[in-house]
Amino acid sequence: MKKIVSLVGARPQFIKEALVGAYASTQQKWDHVVVHSGQHYDANMSDIFFSELHIPRPKYFLGVGSGTHGAMTAAVLKATEEVLLAEKPAALIVYGDTNTTLAGALAAVKLHIPVVHVEAGIRMQPATMPEEINRVVTDRLASTLCCCSELGKQNLAREGIEKGVWVTGDIMYDVFQQMEHLFVTKDVCAPYGLSHDGFIVFTLHRDYTVDCPVTLKSILQELGEVQKNMGLPVVWPVHPRVKKRIREFGYEALAQKFIVVDPLGYVELMSLIRAACFVITDSGGLQKEAYYARKRAVVLMPDSGWQELASSGWNIVSPPQEKRLCLDCMRVTEHCPYPQDVYGNGTAVIRIAEAVLDTVAATGSKI
Ligand code: UD1
Repeated sequence: MKKIVSLVGARPQFIKEALVGAYASTQQKWDHVVVHSGQHYDANMSDIFFSELHIPRPKYFLGVGSGTHGAMTAAVLKATEEVLLAEKPAALIVYGDTNTTLAGALAAVKLHIPVVHVEAGIRMQPATMPEEINRVVTDRLASTLCCCSELGKQNLAREGIEKGVWVTGDIMYDVFQQMEHLFVTKDVCAPYGLSHDGFIVFTLHRDYTVDCPVTLKSILQELGEVQKNMGLPVVWPVHPRVKKRIREFGYEALAQKFIVVDPLGYVELMSLIRAACFVITDSGGLQKEAYYARKRAVVLMPDSGWQELASSGWNIVSPPQEKRLCLDCMRVTEHCPYPQDVYGNGTAVIRIAEAVLDTVAATGSKI
């Protein structure tokens, strides 16, 4: 059996890896070696996903931790190169748009190891956003590009990338479907004194939003208005980056108005979303997960990579600078027909595995 290395490092990647690794192993498709960069390292940002989603212990933990973009990317690049030289895999799988994704892809292509990019072809403004830079460069480096929808394929074609492109559907939908029986809504509401459909789930983590004191303050003030006007309590699992900024900027009093909790595991967060009235987020993954849970989302970003959800009206893009949060939260509670099967039917992993095996057969590893 050929050996494939799968590189993860941040929360959304653990979720995707869970199914790709399980499928490769149970179906004996390839020898699957998991490498964890250590970009996310807190127990509730990392370990909890491994235990909940039954991901085997990674063979390598690179322990890169936090740092500037350059320092983090360089650390993952260097450490991944060592792993690839030792393992000599037939391909490297990377996921999404993090610094780990970009660094891994770069290490592999320089060693002539083909790169499979899962969640390829997403494009959004601003182009200077770190995640956008990571996505665009990784797509250029990858020889196999797995897109969640036709839109990803079209975005790549516009940039002249047509070879090795697969429309696989979204692996996060596969995971959601397979775990759905665990999302017991009743249990999750009780500890917070919430009622079904009677609260909002809110998350925030983008650096260009939370690192700016003016933007963060205005979002928290607007969110306070939403909570008061709509009579819906806000549950906020706070990302470590935001926790630091709240302390630094002295915004504790603003944050205290909400039900502030530590970052949640996958099952608890999905259960909360299923029970919520709607979601407010700047997370790419959560926008889609809200849709899978049949809940609408206000997307607190200048743009959304998940254009299908925005253009169908299901999700509403609300750029923080435009200060439309109150209005957009009212709009998101109005009726909107559910857009069916936008990102496949929950069998993306089968197509992704096909793409991986096709890559290996076509190119092999020259290492
Ligand atoms: C990263 C990804 C983003 C992804 C997100 C998911 C990049 C550029 N960004 O953003 O695409 O959507 O993960 O959550 O790769 N920290 C901790 N504990 C941890 C992890 C981080 O305290 O376990 C702190 C770090 O010290 C840092 C901050 O959180 O101050 C940000 O972490 P980082 O990994 O740089 O980026 P995210 O904002 O999580």
